[in-house]
Amino acid sequence: MSSTRRHVSHIGVLTSGGDAPGMNAAIRAVVRTAHFHGLRVSGVFEGYDGLVRDEIRPLAVRDVSNIIQRGGTILRSARSEAFFAPEGRAQAKRNLDGRGIDGLVVIGGDGTFRGASVFAVEHGVPVVGITGTIDNDLAGTDATIGFDTATNTAMQLIDRIRDTASSHDRLFFVEVMGRTSGAIAMHCGIASGAEFVMVPEHRQGIDQLIQVLERSAKSKSSVIVIVAEGDEEGGAYEVARKVKARFAHYDTRVSVLGHVQRGGNPTMADRLLASRTGVAAVEGLIEGRSGEMAGIVNGNLAWTRFEDAISGRKATDDDLLRILNILSI
Ligand code: F6P
Repeated sequence: MSSTRRHVSHIGVLTSGGDAPGMNAAIRAVVRTAHFHGLRVSGVFEGYDGLVRDEIRPLAVRDVSNIIQRGGTILRSARSEAFFAPEGRAQAKRNLDGRGIDGLVVIGGDGTFRGASVFAVEHGVPVVGITGTIDNDLAGTDATIGFDTATNTAMQLIDRIRDTASSHDRLFFVEVMGRTSGAIAMHCGIASGAEFVMVPEHRQGIDQLIQVLERSAKSKSSVIVIVAEGDEEGGAYEVARKVKARFAHYDTRVSVLGHVQRGGNPTMADRLLASRTGVAAVEGLIEGRSGEMAGIVNGNLAWTRFEDAISGRKATDDDLLRILNILSI
């Protein structure tokens, strides 16, 4: 970091959208980096809603002790209606001005960055982003904070389902999170040896699933189908219903993993990603960056404009689907 002019003196930090394991590690990194560089730093509680309601208070170095290992977010999170109206954002700006906050670090996913982008342009507040979503659906970073933890949690749960499925010759439909992203489903599918994966980005429909089931029925003692919650065929219950209508002899069960995927202690990879991008975000603000997200690409720090991070959505890799289909024969 160059030692020339500092563009900020007091920064705010918030978490917004669905919480993700590793958000606390990112908050810690932001707070400690700010203090390290002699800046003031305040926490905004409950995301953009808290910004509008002025739920802001200073954070000292020790306020973020012993949180690197904890899931969730000490700043709490929310999906704000108020901030999406111009009056809400104007109030947020007044609140920042009232406290002398001249830069913002937002930790979240696509909705968070959409709000940040509008706010930065409309009110001229420097804003930088840190990824914080289990969905791994942002361009400009190999992984988002929380994805590694969530996929490891889901994989371990699917391993347990395999134990019981293979003891009973059963067909399981396991629903994982991802309303618009199949990243969790695809990665867990490969890592847990699933027979089939259904994700919003690829049109692997019921007909293809039936073909796989016909093949698997002859040679396998259990079959696991992973369904991303946002798949076009519906969630796991809906897919199971459609399959049952055509494949009545299978003994089927459905398991929806749900919010257990969002909780728990972050993995080493998520803590490291949060720490690296947390330091980068504060140093980026000091250097005068705004409207950009800090990510890691091929092991190196990478800055991406909010618009590109959101619109260049990482389509789930075609090659991963090919790999899964080869390995599940
Ligand atoms: O964006 C993170 C995420 O966990 C998605 O995978 C999921 O579809 C959604 O949030 C669930 O949101 P909520 O916690 O509001 O039910």
